[in-house]
Amino acid sequence: MKYLSLLLCLLFPLLLRAQGGMWVPLSLEKNNEKEMKSLGLKIKADDLFNNEKPSIKDAICQFDGGCTGEMISPEGLLLTNHHCGFDAIQQLSTLEKNYVDNGYWAKNRSEELPAEGVTAMFVIRMEDITAMALRDVQEGMAERDRQAQIDKNLQQIKVNTKKEAWQDILFRAFYNGNQYYMFITATYKDVRLVGTPPASIGKFGSDTDNWVWPRHTGDFSMFRVYADKDNKPAAYSPNNVPFKPKHFLPISVDGIKEGDFTLVYGFPGRTDEYLPASAISLTERAIDPLRIDIRDRALKIIDGYMRKDPDVKISYIAQYSYIANGWKKWQGEVLGLRKSKAVEQKKAYEAEFTNRVENNIDWKYRYGNVLPRLNEVYAQIEPYRIAAENYAETFQRNNQLLSLAAAYNPLLEMVDQGKLDEFEKKKPEYREKLAAYFRDYRPHVDQAVFANLAERYANTVKAEWGADLLKEAANKAGGYDALTKKLVYNSVFSSKNRLDSMLNLPAQAFTEGMRKDPAFAFWRSLQDNYSKNLQPKLAELTPQLTLLQRQYMDAQMKVFREKRFFPDANSTLRVTYGKVRGYEPRDAVQYGYQTDLDGVMEKYVPGDYEFDLPARLLELWKNKDYGQYSTPDGRLPVAFIATNHTTGGNSGSPALDAKGNLIGLNFDRVWEGTMSDLNYDPAICRNIMVDARYILFIIDKYAGAGHLLQEMKIVKGKKRG
Ligand code: ARG
Ligand code: GLU
Repeated sequence: MKYLSLLLCLLFPLLLRAQGGMWVPLSLEKNNEKEMKSLGLKIKADDLFNNEKPSIKDAICQFDGGCTGEMISPEGLLLTNHHCGFDAIQQLSTLEKNYVDNGYWAKNRSEELPAEGVTAMFVIRMEDITAMALRDVQEGMAERDRQAQIDKNLQQIKVNTKKEAWQDILFRAFYNGNQYYMFITATYKDVRLVGTPPASIGKFGSDTDNWVWPRHTGDFSMFRVYADKDNKPAAYSPNNVPFKPKHFLPISVDGIKEGDFTLVYGFPGRTDEYLPASAISLTERAIDPLRIDIRDRALKIIDGYMRKDPDVKISYIAQYSYIANGWKKWQGEVLGLRKSKAVEQKKAYEAEFTNRVENNIDWKYRYGNVLPRLNEVYAQIEPYRIAAENYAETFQRNNQLLSLAAAYNPLLEMVDQGKLDEFEKKKPEYREKLAAYFRDYRPHVDQAVFANLAERYANTVKAEWGADLLKEAANKAGGYDALTKKLVYNSVFSSKNRLDSMLNLPAQAFTEGMRKDPAFAFWRSLQDNYSKNLQPKLAELTPQLTLLQRQYMDAQMKVFREKRFFPDANSTLRVTYGKVRGYEPRDAVQYGYQTDLDGVMEKYVPGDYEFDLPARLLELWKNKDYGQYSTPDGRLPVAFIATNHTTGGNSGSPALDAKGNLIGLNFDRVWEGTMSDLNYDPAICRNIMVDARYILFIIDKYAGAGHLLQEMKIVKGKKRG
């Protein structure tokens, strides 16, 4: 009895979770409309998404491949995060015109700055094409044959689909390959920077506050999408005109209160909500701790140099932020997995699954083996997965020298395969990247990280997975420090001029130079070792996991009929909804749902690189000059949290109110809830949004760019129903 109630307790959250989920917009009416209405939604599912007529979806785009953006004016004005626009802002900046530090606001259209390479992708329509995609796919087919059949089917669909010449067709697998959807998209390529606050507002709190609530960051920037005279995508041209979207979002300054309905519409990147306990346990026990340990070392070393040397400080800000973002998220993930008892919950869920399967002859025949096999394969693959992650973190994600050398391997292969035209065509792309890369590269910093991590790697993997190779090289050189110094300082990959000269060589001389380069040769030997001793086992087991996970997903949906299943995030357009709500991260600790400008001032540290503030903001705060953006009790709201289920890629997504007005801009999650990628728990998972009123306040009052508000639709003073 005691066991049973414990089981029910653990099972409850996974079977009947209140909210959570990233839903497919095409099926909102069927799956979500009733629930959304019960939570407060005032418009119809059909207003959110419609293939035939304009709907809210037409205001949402994927920004620059990895973030979300939205239209907030009939003239293509686009809102996204500061951290999403950051690359563009940095690239447009010079020492004299430093938009990162000082911000930027175009006073008119002619001052809008073309952000080269930045794209905005809109979904024109989407269709469920599962039946066609899986035609002639038989159960028991080898994975490779299955994929070949699907590819053939998709090719056929592509040929038969009507679309305009400027549109694209995308296919995506859902539910681990049990369903397929087609997207007709339009990608706009002339995107221009309209404005950004200085980093002291847009990145306020930087890495210290990243993933943390309470938060005080004005994480937004603004662009404009341009089109040709027919409103179609076109490469940059001074003759292009502002894009006219089929829908744009009105912005409400009426504010929010706890319990209000909110909806986030965007392009979440990746989640894994339906894994077996064994996989979650692997992440919690081994993969996350390994990543954290490696990045802990890298960050400490980089930080040491950043503190000593202002030059390193500027050069490594972006690299540091990149490493720290994952490092911090994974720590939160481990904590959250433990706190939410994810592994136990999944085990209870699996016990119920097994029980139901055992009691149904058909299911028993079809699915009886799936979980035991998944557990077996996870046990087999575990050491290889850990080593592969160790390898990637050590020699790829935290090692600039070897990653750059590896990035040049395709050029070498082109020459080796006689594709000289391709080689010549590709070279300029490589050359273009040199200046920006080496502006921020400091060999002594990279070398110090390399030495530390290489030694760690040698001491944590099996002899044949690279430990022997590394130990031998280190012995010969006189230690890891000496080894990595030799590699870094004797390589062309640590010097812009030398690499540039090598790129200028004719094909044969180029490949000779590559082969002679110590860093490239070292990377090659590591990589050959990896291909020989690690890769084959991964290549053997990974497809088995793919197949089993697909079967397990299918089985879960059949066996738990009472549960609604949303598909894992896959960088496609999704809707998630919830309510504005605070939370309790720990015993006796309670977090409110909203922060304000007074809180920004509490964190203010003059001169600090994370918590400094511009004088103008201090002045506005002193005078309480908040205009229409103030709360009735005279505060200026900055950020708020809600129970929307979001992930990476949702950055820049609009948060909408019950009527479809923009009330906030999604940019992060709370630390205690980052395990929502694996196990969403409504008790502690919250998304973090900048309040729309803070955004407008910064544009209008702080930056004096109020002219932009004239093309927006500001909703105010409506009775809140
Ligand atoms: N944590 C947010 C995300 O995952 C923001 C990252 C950018 N900010 C930073 N301080 N690194 O993308
Ligand atoms: N900052 C993330 C992004 O760039 C969003 C935060 C999250 O992972 O939820 O998409």
